[in-house]
Amino acid sequence: MRILNWLLLPIGLMAGCQNQEAAPTGAAKGIPGQAWWKEGIIYQIYPRSFKDSDGDGVGDLRGIIEKLDYIERLGVTMVWLNPIYASPNADNGYDISDYRAIMQEFGSMEDFDELLAGLHSRGIRFVMDVVVNHSSDEHEWFVQSRSSRDNPYRDYYHWWPAEKGKPNYRYSLFDPKGEAWKYDSLTDAYYLHYFAQKQPDLKWENPKVRQEVYDIMKFWAEKGVDGFRLDAFQYVSKDTTFPKLPEGYEKEVIKYYGMGPGLHGYLKEMNREVLSQYDVFVVSEGAGSSFEDAHSLVDADRNELQMAYHFEGMDVGNSLDGYTLAEFKSVYSRWDSAFAKKGWLSIFLANHDVPRMVSKFGDDRPAYRAASSKMLNTFILSMRGTPYCYYGDELGMTNIGFDSIQQYQDIAARNGYQKALSEGRDMEQFLKELKFLSRDNGRTPMQWDSSRHAGFTTGTPWLPVNENHAQINVAAQEESPNSCLNYFRQMAQLRKSHLFLTYGDYQLLLPADEQVYAYTRTLEGEGALVLLNFSAAEAAAPLDKLPGFEERPLINNYPGLQVDASFITLKPYQAVLLPLK
Ligand code: NOJ
Repeated sequence: MRILNWLLLPIGLMAGCQNQEAAPTGAAKGIPGQAWWKEGIIYQIYPRSFKDSDGDGVGDLRGIIEKLDYIERLGVTMVWLNPIYASPNADNGYDISDYRAIMQEFGSMEDFDELLAGLHSRGIRFVMDVVVNHSSDEHEWFVQSRSSRDNPYRDYYHWWPAEKGKPNYRYSLFDPKGEAWKYDSLTDAYYLHYFAQKQPDLKWENPKVRQEVYDIMKFWAEKGVDGFRLDAFQYVSKDTTFPKLPEGYEKEVIKYYGMGPGLHGYLKEMNREVLSQYDVFVVSEGAGSSFEDAHSLVDADRNELQMAYHFEGMDVGNSLDGYTLAEFKSVYSRWDSAFAKKGWLSIFLANHDVPRMVSKFGDDRPAYRAASSKMLNTFILSMRGTPYCYYGDELGMTNIGFDSIQQYQDIAARNGYQKALSEGRDMEQFLKELKFLSRDNGRTPMQWDSSRHAGFTTGTPWLPVNENHAQINVAAQEESPNSCLNYFRQMAQLRKSHLFLTYGDYQLLLPADEQVYAYTRTLEGEGALVLLNFSAAEAAAPLDKLPGFEERPLINNYPGLQVDASFITLKPYQAVLLPLK
């Protein structure tokens, strides 16, 4: 038995990692479809929770500016911020009241300009969230629209005059009654809101609405933003006759609400009017309900969008029963093979709409938290697709796990609770599920140090800081060479310096193994074997089922690797990349 004992790059080398130094080795040129946004690593920041600079308990743009050096040292190349526009915050910024103004709590347009310049000077691009399936009901368009039936803005939203009778039922994702048509007595009509009542759906069928959106996008593109994330975009086009939908369709909302008849026309128009005029990339939240839908959004020859993210990966493990590695492998392998030849996807395991990655897919018990979080980051950063890394996951931040409904801030949790209550559901079970799955789990403040409120704010944080910040925080992890944070930095450098990790073919190995996720990434004769132990027990990967590899790992989340005549034995949650021979 041989124990390989390499600790990867010396930490001193990593400390100096800068984006500029990430010149890729290997086949750097001539890869068909090569693009900067494919080679990037996106860091998603929930601005409300990243760093509060003025003590009001809410994160802000100046807070992010303070942390630019931190962001740069992560090795990420793009930053995506959740919405920062003026908003009454019914859904934390996903309800916009002015698309050309910055939310007061977050700062000013000058702060935004400084942030953008600060990112750009560090070689980091900026991705703006564009929320245009709906606006806030406090947006001037809606204020006008609801004021009278003949207001020029009436047709900016979907109205159903009451004299036509009650409109056919539409399910709302956030409504306490689950009802998407809201009656408004002012004009004796119903308006449509697929999300909360304060998020009325814009009527994309109206060319004036589309022109408004393109003008807004141009406004930000002129300022220099490098990308857009189109929120809930698959829902914008609707059958405006609003026919009756089949019983139980709520369980397949994407199929019934998504990819409406006008969608591709709108995207082609947006591409012509905005996207083709700037060096920007656009990612669509949601990708329809089939591979064909997803391709129809992003295939290069269609001139629509560049990247999509699907929800199938997020559906894995969406219950207290957890998930099986077989499901997990199957989702990622199927999507990879569907996109192997064309199209481009995002790779992510968390965002602001789901629980913390390590609590959902890893193991947040103290003994395994660090190893499993490093292992999951190894997965994200070694798959094909553009990796999205959610703030705090570089530290292994965990779910907070609230017990009572009063602790939740999220509209989805609060309204979901009301709905469950009115349906007579088992509320104990509901709260148990919410504790694990709620979006607030992924929104707690960033853990900068072990001080009160984790160095996030000097005031009272808008959402409590996780008590485990005493152990899990940036300051402590900076000091420790083997921390999650330093591992993340190393893995990010590895991704950027080996183009096979971006563009290489993916091949699944050991498909039936219940503990080990094994695959290769190869490009033009270069490549790596990736071995990820998804379990808390040791796992043996049989050598006769693996391709030949060099024993010196490119990266390893443990100090050594046990290889004997027939097996590689992986420690709990061990992750290793081995160069292929
Ligand atoms: C998707 C966003 O990610 C989520 O946070 C938001 O609540 C809905 N869209 C509505 O905008």
